[in-house]
Formats: sequence, C-alpha cells, structure tokens
Amino acid sequence: MVTSLLLLAILGSTAGIRTEKVGVLLMHGFWQAFDTQHHLDFKDFVEGKTGVKVHLIDAFNDLAAPPTESSLTPMWIQVPAILEQVKNISAQYEKIIAVGFSQGGVIWRAMIESWDNHNVDTFISLASPQHGISDIPVKYLEPLPKHSIPSTLSYSYKLGISSGIKEVLKSLFYLPRVQNVFAPSNYFLEPKLRHLYLQTAFFPRLNNEVGSAEEKQRQKNNFQSLRKLLLIGGPDDGTVIPWQSQIFGFRTADKKIVPMEETQFYKDDLFGLKTLDEKGAITTCIKGGLRHSDFPNSSEVLNDCVLPAIQDVISN
Ligand SMILES: *[C@@H]1O[C@H](CO)[C@@H](O)[C@H](O)[C@H]1NC(C)=O
Ligand SMILES: *[C@@H]1O[C@H](CO)[C@@H](O)[C@H](O)[C@H]1NC(C)=O
Repeated sequence: MVTSLLLLAILGSTAGIRTEKVGVLLMHGFWQAFDTQHHLDFKDFVEGKTGVKVHLIDAFNDLAAPPTESSLTPMWIQVPAILEQVKNISAQYEKIIAVGFSQGGVIWRAMIESWDNHNVDTFISLASPQHGISDIPVKYLEPLPKHSIPSTLSYSYKLGISSGIKEVLKSLFYLPRVQNVFAPSNYFLEPKLRHLYLQTAFFPRLNNEVGSAEEKQRQKNNFQSLRKLLLIGGPDDGTVIPWQSQIFGFRTADKKIVPMEETQFYKDDLFGLKTLDEKGAITTCIKGGLRHSDFPNSSEVLNDCVLPAIQDVISN
C-alpha cells in the first residue's frame, strides 16, 4: 500500500501526469533570487489562503557577471532556458497562473509569447516594466564591474547631468557591449532613441515591432490566448520609470504620459493587447504608497489583487 502510494507520487511528479488542476509559477526580478523573503511570503500567503501550490522558479538568481548565470544574463538567454524548466513544472497541471515580479514579468510575457499551446490561464504581472523603462535607476547600475560602461553611466547620472548629455548617455544602453551583460538594458526604451531600440535583439521582437510575419502571428496567438491578464502597479514604485509601464502605459518623446489605449502597442494590436482588452480579459490593480520591492508581499496587493485573481481561476 505504502509502496504503491509512493509509486503514484513519483509517477505523478515526474511522468507529466496532470495531477492537479491549478499551479502558480512565480519568476523573480532583477538583482533577486527565487527565495528572496518577499517571494517566500507570497508563496506562504497564496498556499495558506487557497491551497494552490506556488513554485518559485529557481533560475538566473542574484548578480554575477556573464558567462555565469544570473539576473544580469541577457533576456534572449534567460527566456528559453527558464521556459524549459517552466514547461516541466506546468506539465503536472491542467492550467497554470504565471506570476512575474518586475523583470520576471517581462520574462513571463516572453515565455508566453514563444510557448505554443501553453496552459497559462492567467498572467499576473506584478510591478513589471511591460512597456519598458525610459530610465534605469542608478542603484541598478552600481553593482556592475568598475570601469564598465554602466558604472560610468551611474557616475554621470549622479552628477545631475543635463538632459542633452543624458540622452547621449542613454544611447550607450543600446550598445551590444551593454546589451550583452546587463539584462535591464534589454527592455530599455527611450522614445527619442527609437532607431537604436529597433536594432536590439530582444524587446522590439517581443513587442512584434520587428520579425517575420509568421513569427509575429505566432507570438500574438500565444499571448492573446490568455484568459486573464492582471496588471499590478502603483505610482510610488520608484524603480519602474515611468511607473505607468506596469499597466502598459508609457511616455512619448516629448515626455507626455499616455495610457495603454493610446500606445502603439495597443492601437496596432501588435501582440494581442487590444484583442485581450476587447474580450474583457485585462484587469488593472493600482496601489499607492508602495515601493517597488513592497509589491510581492504587500497585504493590500495580496488580498485585493492577487487573491481574487487566483480564486477566479480555481472557480473557472
Ligand atoms: C516583505 O518582505 C520584506 C523583505 O523582502 C520584509 O522586510 C517585509 O517585512 C515584508 N513585509 C510584509 C508585509 O510581510
Ligand atoms: C524536469 O523534471 C524532471 C523530473 O522532475 C527532472 O529530472 C529534469 O531535470 C527536469 N528538467 C528540467 C529542464 O528542469
């Protein structure tokens, strides 16, 4: 009896049998690990309140210069590697809830777009720069090797430079030497430097601004097959600039903030955002008074935003 139960447990976890209906998979952010305290708190909360298992994805943790794997590793290397691990975990569930915090939310969008016939029911984007970042917080540049381009940038940023010089410095984020060693530069988007952005390998492809017609259609089909997309963010985040990027808004070259509905991503329905919105799939949950790293374990976020979304999946 014990032996057959044990056998069942082993088979259930390794043979890809869908033993459970719903599972949650959380991808951590930049300069963090899967077991950072606020992620452990998220897991305890969700498992305690709903009984749904939460997997904290153990990949590309912390900071280490490439070629060592870390959250600095370029997105085009992280995404396919993490997807292998995610597919493995997801195979035991009928449907999954994808949760991505910060950079992890951009990684999750990329995994969903590239994963044919995925079983992601709901995608919870938690304080993620979904429309990119137009400035990189200085603290993010600090841990980089001394004398590297990003650390020089950090120094210049601190001197309170004029906007003209800042633009020149910003163009350096698009250099292959920076793109290849500093993941946040992969989703850096300064509207005034659009021509440089379009030459980079990751974000314009993810956003279906470049790529073959066939590849674009495939990414769009995968993304718009989500049943629900929950965008969580807030004006006091302080790290995602502009904060509206968390809810797919952004700013124009003349520094005007535009809501999701007025962005090109949405108006041209580049990767299915408009389609999702028109079928009522998109919900936003905006919370003030929270700093960036507060989002994963804020009781307000957990109770008012995350819990209803998970209960909705369970009851569906
Ligand atoms: C959230 O996690 C941080 C550490 O990441 C901790 O300092 C803080 O006390 C936690 N907040 C709550 C509400 O549990
Ligand atoms: C997938 O899961 C199996 C069984 O748990 C494990 O042996 C294998 O290493 C996993 N593969 C990846 C890529 O995580």
